[in-house]
Parts: sequence; C-alpha cells; structure tokens
Amino acid sequence: MNINILAIESSCDDTSASIIQNGRILSNCVANQAAHQLYGGVVPEVASRAHQANIIPVVDMSIKKAGIKKEDLTAIAFTRGPGLMGSLIVGVSFAKGLALSLNIPMIEVNHMMAHVLAHFAEDPKPTFPFLCLTVSGGHTQIVLVKSHLEMEVLGNTIDDAAGEAFDKSGKLLGLGYPAGPLVDKYAKLGKPVFPFTEPKVDGLNFSFSGLKTSILYFLRRELKTNPDFIKNNLNDICASIQTRIISILINKLKKATIQTGIKQVAIAGGVSANSGLRATLTETGKELGWTTYIPRFEYCTDNAAMIAVTGYYKYLAGEFVGQDVVPMARMKI
Ligand code: KG4
Ligand code: ZN
Repeated sequence: MNINILAIESSCDDTSASIIQNGRILSNCVANQAAHQLYGGVVPEVASRAHQANIIPVVDMSIKKAGIKKEDLTAIAFTRGPGLMGSLIVGVSFAKGLALSLNIPMIEVNHMMAHVLAHFAEDPKPTFPFLCLTVSGGHTQIVLVKSHLEMEVLGNTIDDAAGEAFDKSGKLLGLGYPAGPLVDKYAKLGKPVFPFTEPKVDGLNFSFSGLKTSILYFLRRELKTNPDFIKNNLNDICASIQTRIISILINKLKKATIQTGIKQVAIAGGVSANSGLRATLTETGKELGWTTYIPRFEYCTDNAAMIAVTGYYKYLAGEFVGQDVVPMARMKI
C-alpha cells in the first residue's frame, strides 16, 4: 500500500501544501502573499487572514496535481513552529480538522529541521554526518546533522538573521520587500568596492545588527554630500553588502568544518537562493575539498515539500501527535 502524506506549511507569509508518496514528492504548491509588499514587511494579521483564504485551494491543488484523492491520504504533516502564531494556527487547525475527518494520524514538523531536510527531496542526497548552514528570514544556524531526525545546532545568530540583514539593508536603499532577491539582482551588476567590517563574534555564532548600523551611518555620510549617492551606486552598494554577508557566513562555516572535521557542507533556507552565496560555497568547497549541497530554488524559500520529506521520515519512525497539539512560535531543533 502506498504511503501518501499531505504536508502543510503556514509559518510565515507563504501558504504551501505538498504530497509525498513513499518518499517521493508528487506536488508542491505555494501561494505567496503580495499584500506585505505594501507595508515593507510581513504583517502578522494580514498573513493569518491570507492563510485562511489560501489554505483550501492550495491543499486541493496539491492533491489534484499529485493525482490522488483525499481518501488516499495516510497521514498529515504540518509545521508546528517556529513561526508567527497567527499563521501557524491556520495550518495546525486545518491539519487537525482534516485528520479528524479522515481518521488518519498527524505528524508535527519543526520548520528549521525541514529546511535542512529539503536536501532529501531529490538526489544527490547528503550522507551523514553533514553540516548545514540554514539561513532564512528569521534564523541563521550552523546545524550538525547526525541523521534525518537527529540534529544539533552548533551556532546561532545573536541578533538579526542573515535574511533580515539583506531585507533591512535593502530597505535602507529604498528597495521593496523582501529586499534579499533585489540586493542579489543588483549585486550581480556591481563590485564590492565599499568596505563594511566583519563583526567579531565568539564560536560559531553570528551577528548582523552591526552591519546594518554601519550601512546606515555610511549612507547618511555619503548622502550629505551627494543626494544621488544611492541612485548612482546602487549596484556597487548591493555588491558590497552581499559580499560582506557572504563572508560572515562562509568564514563561520570554515570554522565549523575545522572544529568538527566534517567536510560535507550544505546550505538551506531562503538566503540559500542567493546567487553569490551559492557560487562562493561551490568555490570554497572546491578549494578546501568539501562536498557541497545546494538546494534547487523552489526548495530554498518556504515550501511544503520540505515539510513532507520531514513528515515522511517521522512517519517511518512512528512519531505522531494527537489532537491536543498546539502551535509553538519559538520551537527549537
Ligand atoms: O526561508 P524563507 O523563505 O522564510 C523564512 O523561514 O524566513 O526565507 C526568507 C528570506 C527573506 O529574508 C528573503 O529576503 C531571503 O530569504 N531571500 C534572499 C534571496 N531569496 C530570498 N536573500 C538573498 N538573496 C536571495 N536571492
Ligand atoms: Zn523558512
């Protein structure tokens, strides 16, 4: 009999549903929420309401695309956290309702664990143990991955996440939300001629708030004498910001490989879509003899396929939850 798992992701501003059959992804549907662009960031109440509007069509579409019927489902996996409470609650409640009506078990998934396991959505799959740099809008972590369901966080950000560093710097430049992909686009056309210093942070932890402040002061100074400074230098400013963020990330990864002796290195999360980070990881890997793993774009930013993969491994391990499960905004790996 086929194992068909429906997975639901609603932790932030993307509503996504996916079907995995016997460990193979059959569908991965995502509804993005454009409304937040108006506000320059995710507005939790708006996100929650949009999830409510999107969840049924997105789940329907994922089931149709997979070529199955809802009665064929074996289990439902859902993101329990971390994320925005009002967003999580929509996915969790929907999963509970559907699981109850179909009389099938539920599987809770940690969103950050799922970003790592996105690497198991297709080949080549990393072998254990490996290191994963998970860089998203809310997190920046170096994770030691011992097995599918056994992970240890070796380093964390002590303030902003890497994605926030991209988004907040981009906002200072007048770019729309999320600014990360735009900084990436303009950086490709520029050179990293403006020096922003690398913060000194202990161990494998990260800090990005100092970078944001130094960009702010730098722009204020330059704009005083040249009001068109940003307009005339946008590509070079973006290249400078991006290069610094990447060097902060890669230097800590280098440190982690030395500390652990592990040379299998993966990246995951929304910022792993960054072309500069992808290229630098590949180059560094070649130079230092690492085997590197970079997810396909659709598996970098938030998606339910990664929830489905994690749900599948948890299904095999017999890890289910009951109807009393509640969302956890600050869920840890
Ligand atoms: O993983 P994700 O989709 O959502 C969270 O779990 O937070 O990550 C979103 C983050 C945003 O900060 C966005 O600006 C960033 O990923 N991002 C990028 C790129 N694409 C998405 N940052 C830099 N370059 C990109 N190409
Ligand atoms: Zn995410």
